[in-house]
Amino acid sequence: MADDLRDRDREAAFWALIPAAGIGRRMGSDRPKQYLTLGSRTILAHTLSIFLEHPRIRGVVLVLGPDVDPDALDLPSAGGRLFRVAGGAERADSVQNGLDFLSERAHGEDWVLVHDAARPCLPVSDVDHLLRALGDDAVGGLLACPSTDTIKWSDGAGHVERTLERDRVWRALTPQMFRLDVLREANRKARAAGHAVTDEASAIEYLGKKPRLIEGSAMNIKITRSEDLDLARLYLMQQGRLEGGFRP
Ligand code: CTP
Ligand code: MG
Repeated sequence: MADDLRDRDREAAFWALIPAAGIGRRMGSDRPKQYLTLGSRTILAHTLSIFLEHPRIRGVVLVLGPDVDPDALDLPSAGGRLFRVAGGAERADSVQNGLDFLSERAHGEDWVLVHDAARPCLPVSDVDHLLRALGDDAVGGLLACPSTDTIKWSDGAGHVERTLERDRVWRALTPQMFRLDVLREANRKARAAGHAVTDEASAIEYLGKKPRLIEGSAMNIKITRSEDLDLARLYLMQQGRLEGGFRP
């Protein structure tokens, strides 16, 4: 009984889960894009540092591809807060592996922030904003950007079928932040049903819930093609994060 009470009063912890098991097909480089360097560090190291250096993140689960030797990676020092897990064929499989791992260590009510390894330019202030905005939310949500372009819905054959209302169109970014148990269940069910799970919110939506949209910075690009690398360098430089240490 006393334990139950303690458990209920326990404040939910925040965990980061970084899927980094992709091959970077669209980048077309000699190695998966997360191992390319920006300044003196890999994209992956830049991304990990955001969470490892954040005082409110309890631990970071890094999901890696099968052929990766973690000891050969230039990973930031983590003081025992970094856990490595093997990835799967699709991003949602990699995320599932990370969630399964976390469920052995974390509380079901804890928050998980899933963030693409390929988004190293996420401003720390956006992480703070997400934690503040969603910490008491029933469902959770995601960073997103209102679309600045008008969005056309195609008929699937190269013609416009209709124009979407621009002020209701948002681009989904990461981190996406949900409770561990809810997200694990949503991801598992949506995948089992063959639903396309391209982000965590789509799995939560599959359960009939409505994730909150939290406006984030457009600097938080997903590095996809080679032309994104220069832009990412510029954004890191603007944040004072291009060389050496991350935070002043
Ligand atoms: N990812 C993963 N496991 C997979 C596929 C992707 O962990 N099976 C990760 C990637 O490493 C990346 C993030 O999910 O950090 C977003 O995926 P994306 O940008 O599509 O990366 P890739 O799948 O590597 O790139 P591409 O689609 O061009 O092959
Ligand atoms: Mg991909």
